[in-house]
Amino acid sequence: MKEGYEKAINKLASELLEEVSKAEVIGLGSGSTVASLIRRIKIAEKKLCVPTSKQIGFVAEQLGMICTELHGEVDLTIDGADQVDKELNMIKGGGGALLREKILINFSRKVYIVVSDKKVVGKLCEKDVPVPVEVSPFGINYVKRKLLDMNGRPELRVNEKGYPYFTENCNMILDTYFKHVERPAELEASIKRIPGVVETGIFTKKPDKVFVLEKEGSYTVMK
Ligand code: A5P
Repeated sequence: MKEGYEKAINKLASELLEEVSKAEVIGLGSGSTVASLIRRIKIAEKKLCVPTSKQIGFVAEQLGMICTELHGEVDLTIDGADQVDKELNMIKGGGGALLREKILINFSRKVYIVVSDKKVVGKLCEKDVPVPVEVSPFGINYVKRKLLDMNGRPELRVNEKGYPYFTENCNMILDTYFKHVERPAELEASIKRIPGVVETGIFTKKPDKVFVLEKEGSYTVMK
């Protein structure tokens, strides 16, 4: 992380300390931003958290937090995103944790998203950022065809050796490129309707706040 962004995330960490301390259960999205943030917040030992992946679960455990299942509503979820537009619609799932993140975001009293300024765009999918679509392996070719019919360009996510990538839910991901998304809620719903699609990386449930880290060392809040 570059120096300015480090300064910004340090500021945010101290700003969020009180709220995080008050929350009984914290939801944790996945990715490098959430990992850096929770490492910087002076989280009390044994704080209960619901992680959305092994990646963030391991970080939380290193910090002395206790990971639990999603038994009931979470007080506060902190998450990252791959892209955010001005209406707070998001693309998520770059790390493959979209399904659990979508469930958690919908089951949280409060949701805070943290992104760098480079991720804020006028319209989702600008700058060639794809929409991750989590698909049951049996339906992969059918879903691919349907996404092509929707003018998307689906690409099977693979690991560094070229093997198909599997999510923690044993599904595959089609990273799907679209031209600018004019109506995110419609696109989210139409992708979700394709049989075989488990979840889409378009998130249109608005978070309570989006913290935008700026390279100059401060942050702004979108809500
Ligand atoms: C995880 O699947 C994603 O939704 C992440 O929140 C997103 O990819 C942002 O990750 P970084 O914080 O690593 O950029």
